[in-house]
Amino acid sequence: MAVDDPALKREIREAAEEEEKTTYEERMSDEWREALAPLGTDWRKPFLETAPWLVVCFAKPYDVGDDGDKTTNYYVQESVGIACGMFITALHHMGLATLTHTPAPMGFLNELLERPSNERPYILCPVGYPADGATVPDIEKKSLDEIVQWNR
Ligand SMILES: Cc1cc2nc3c(=O)[nH]c(=O)nc-3n(C[C@H](O)[C@H](O)[C@H](O)COP(=O)(O)O)c2cc1C
Repeated sequence: MAVDDPALKREIREAAEEEEKTTYEERMSDEWREALAPLGTDWRKPFLETAPWLVVCFAKPYDVGDDGDKTTNYYVQESVGIACGMFITALHHMGLATLTHTPAPMGFLNELLERPSNERPYILCPVGYPADGATVPDIEKKSLDEIVQWNR
C-alpha cells in the first residue's frame, strides 16, 4: 500500500504513536530499552506525517478463495523479507531515503487501510528525500569476516 493522503498519514501516525507509547512505557524490557538508547528513538513518530509517502508492506500467510477456502502460502516471511530488502535497495538507488519501521503491534494498519485479516502488516517504510541537515545514529556495521564463513 502506498499512502500520500495527509489525513490518512495523520491517522496512521496517531495509531502508531499510541502503540509505541504503550510499548516504550509498558511492554519494553530494560534490555531492549538499553539497546535502543544509542539510537535516541522514543514513541514519537513525526516522520509518519512529514514523509511524502508511506509504503506499507503486508505478508499474506494464506489466500482465501471466492468459496472461502483457505490456501496456505509457503516461505512467506523469507519472500516478503527479500522483497522488502530489494525495495529498500531500489529506493537508495533512486537517491531516496527510508526507515524500516515496525510499530508493534501493527494490526491498526489493517483497519486504517481496510485490508483483510489474511494480510499481516510486515514493515512500514516512510519514503522521501532526507531533510536538510538530517542526522542518523553513528552505527558500526559488522565486517565481512564477522558475517561470512568461507566453505567449512
Ligand atoms: C526489521 C527491522 C525493523 C526495524 N524497526 C524499527 C522501528 O520500529 N523503529 C525505528 O526507529 N527503527 C527501526 N529499524 C531501523 C533500525 O534502527 C536501522 O535499520 C538500524 O539503525 C540501521 O540503520 P540503517 O538501516 O540505516 O543501516 C528497523 C530495522 C529493521 C531491519
